[in-house]
Amino acid sequence: MGKDKDDDGSSVGGGSDGSSCSSDSSSGSDRMDAENEWGDWEDEGPQEMPTQCLLSGAVKPTPEAALAADREQGLDLLGLLGTHGLGLYGAMKVINYIRTLVLKQGVSAEQVVALVQDVDGLRTALQGDVLLQPILEDDPLLFALGELLEAHGLDLLLQQEEEGEGRGEEEEEGENGTGTQAMAAESETVPDQHLSLQEQRKLVQENHALREELGEVRTRLKRLSELMAAVDEDVKVRTKPERQDNDTYYFKSYSHHGIHETMLKDTVRTQSYREAIQKTGLEGKVVLDVGSGSGVLSMFAAKAGAAQVVGVDRSGIVEQARAIVKLNGLEEKVVLVQGKMEEVSLPVEKVDVIVSEWMGYCLLYESMLPSVLAARDKYLRPGGLLLPSRCTMLVQGVGDYEGKLGWWGNVYGLDMSPLRASVLAEPGVEAVDPKAIMTDAFVFKDFDLYTVQDRELDFEAEFSLTVGAAAAPTAGAAAAAAVWKEGRRLRGLVISFDTFFEGLSGGQSVVFSTRPEEKDTHWHQTLFWLTEAPEGGLGEGDVVKGKLRFLRNAINPRDYDVAISWEVRRKRGEVVVGQGKQSYTLGS
Ligand SMILES: C[S@@+](CC[C@H](N)C(=O)[O-])C[C@H]1O[C@@H](n2cnc3c(N)ncnc32)[C@H](O)[C@@H]1O
Repeated sequence: MGKDKDDDGSSVGGGSDGSSCSSDSSSGSDRMDAENEWGDWEDEGPQEMPTQCLLSGAVKPTPEAALAADREQGLDLLGLLGTHGLGLYGAMKVINYIRTLVLKQGVSAEQVVALVQDVDGLRTALQGDVLLQPILEDDPLLFALGELLEAHGLDLLLQQEEEGEGRGEEEEEGENGTGTQAMAAESETVPDQHLSLQEQRKLVQENHALREELGEVRTRLKRLSELMAAVDEDVKVRTKPERQDNDTYYFKSYSHHGIHETMLKDTVRTQSYREAIQKTGLEGKVVLDVGSGSGVLSMFAAKAGAAQVVGVDRSGIVEQARAIVKLNGLEEKVVLVQGKMEEVSLPVEKVDVIVSEWMGYCLLYESMLPSVLAARDKYLRPGGLLLPSRCTMLVQGVGDYEGKLGWWGNVYGLDMSPLRASVLAEPGVEAVDPKAIMTDAFVFKDFDLYTVQDRELDFEAEFSLTVGAAAAPTAGAAAAAAVWKEGRRLRGLVISFDTFFEGLSGGQSVVFSTRPEEKDTHWHQTLFWLTEAPEGGLGEGDVVKGKLRFLRNAINPRDYDVAISWEVRRKRGEVVVGQGKQSYTLGS
């Protein structure tokens, strides 16, 4: 799946619409849908602004909801700002400070709560203007800050702060006040003591300029919202404000037969599922198929002897799937429910087996796994079976490889190489030539689907790869030997995944792999170019080490923000021949 792309593999980075399988997004029916949705939109109250919580990283529909969730974990941001006497400016820094701790440094929620309550520590942390730089692009919390402060009566403090700033300049060497007021003054107005007088003046000026800009932006935003309200009221123009409705586009892509054709034609995928279902011993069992699509897995289960199969899918494909089930004479056993797994009520209380094909590009893109975990927690009876039961993610080094990049060098006889730079900046989905693999394979994530929790789907993991070493084979798959030539340059890292169906009848298991060395699947592999990789060739035994970070995107949690930091060392260990850091978006 992941399956909103052409089967020839393509980029899943910026610019591609994560739901583009149904390509006629401006068709008449789409427009009608958009108009029909307008009614719902009006009734829904405040506009959603999906916001990442400061502590947990979970995404909530509004900044207020995100702050409420943080409060439950012990961080009362607005209370803290009030206590420390911080206004808009300081509040921005506090938010960016906490995001730095959580997202960049992996500090735990408890530690963060303790850190921000330490007045002296926080004062030191907030010095300078560095923390005015947002950590999350378009952070809704920063956008909403002015209103949140006002709503909590903190605007007065902002006034004091601004007045205080004037006083601060007059009193330059004098009292900065004590306690929290001093902190507000120091963190927001006093430049770094180590800077030269000239640099300090420049900072103060920039400080003023930034405050003025902020003030202007707020005024403009206020004016804009007044104008929009006026237009809506007086002219009755029905323009639907842009909002992220990731589900509508996502499920629409699955209502087209083309995406199902791609998946069904993937024989590695479909035959592995069929084999696992046949080896499960389903006689008399109740099965839940999460995301039943064309109904293929539900029908495999019914044919394998299941007493009852319930398939759930929210996309429009359900209608055709029901017809298919009937045509194949399985309607007595297979019931298909149209709706979102998290929302539907099922005709059964508990099930013996849950089967689901939820995997996306790079395993996690598309983020369907949380829906399977929700179904597991609600419907799987104790001791029930999950198909699949485990997935691992692997990384391998790619050397001297052009892949689809090379195509830009000669497009109908024209050299379009300037476009290479943007291709290199995005994760590419393609069938990587196994001959380009120059390291062993490192399993950096192992999801036990019986126990994994939603929060673990945002994670950081280390990896270590050895140039020229053979990868350990996947159970049941062919050995993956690195094809190695001395002196090859490292060009990128390729990520693939293995899927395990364990605990089948008589202890049997089924495994399939999406590694480059295995038979290609519609997931292919995901290639992350390392544009700063060392120019020089590497030798056998050299080591590529690093960290991978996968975080669901704050605006569209079906996308992932991926960051890779890496370094290359010579085989004897100590000489670092290159290092770097790169960030990517896996998705639209
Ligand atoms: C990758 S397809 C698999 C289809 C089918 N099981 C197969 O193997 O060919 C995933 C399906 O899950 C559905 N889906 C994804 N998330 C869902 C959710 N939360 N609730 C209901 N259906 C969902 C999609 O509409 C899509 O049809």
